[in-house]
Amino acid sequence: MSIVIAVDGTAASGKGTLAKMLARHFGFAHLDSGALYRLTALAVLEAQGDPASEADALKGAQTLDFNRAGDPAIRSDIVGKASSQVAAIPAVRDALLAFQRDFLTRPPGGSPGAVMDGRDIGTVICPTATAKLYIDASPEVRARRRWTELKNMNIRRAEQDVLAELNARDAADKSRPVSPLKQAPDADLLDTTDLGIDAAFAAALALVSSKVEGALKDRHRG
Ligand code: DC
Repeated sequence: MSIVIAVDGTAASGKGTLAKMLARHFGFAHLDSGALYRLTALAVLEAQGDPASEADALKGAQTLDFNRAGDPAIRSDIVGKASSQVAAIPAVRDALLAFQRDFLTRPPGGSPGAVMDGRDIGTVICPTATAKLYIDASPEVRARRRWTELKNMNIRRAEQDVLAELNARDAADKSRPVSPLKQAPDADLLDTTDLGIDAAFAAALALVSSKVEGALKDRHRG
């Protein structure tokens, strides 16, 4: 394994943005593992399959096109809901495991480390991560952020509906039997409810930097 920063947390908590900023700061590779589940869901929906069907979802995971990770289509709320459904299917999680572990073992570009954000990075994908963060914020603040994000994509939604969907998705992600969203015992909690992005990044950096700098020094020595 390389040096790994695991960033888990609830939907729209800011974990993706923080993970990207941490990766840039340390010169590490970044993987948004949620995109893998979203791409799986997109493949299922485009094939007119059922995201709750194990056979359809597994086929989606096996045929997902990683080149479309930047496609705005994966950010829609329909794909978001379907991604939570496919993510609850153990065969899908198994199919996506090797990709994630390979990324952490050999980060692209020969980078000494990787930052991965998701729901089970510190608990299942990489329990030995160098540093672990669990990002959360109040549901109302997260709903407002997601609503703004959708508005910027010209998707007009009632904020109450966004809040209801977010709560439903968190409940599903936390209660599924396989790899549920939960804070790893050794993860540091960062609540971004009252923090702008710069303050949240400063707080995240303060939590991980001594561990990451220590691991980088060990590498140079070793
Ligand atoms: O982070 P996101 O909203 O893009 O994730 C989409 C869905 O994928 C989310 O509802 C739960 C699932 N997911 C997961 O189960 N495990 C991960 N490591 C990442 C995402």
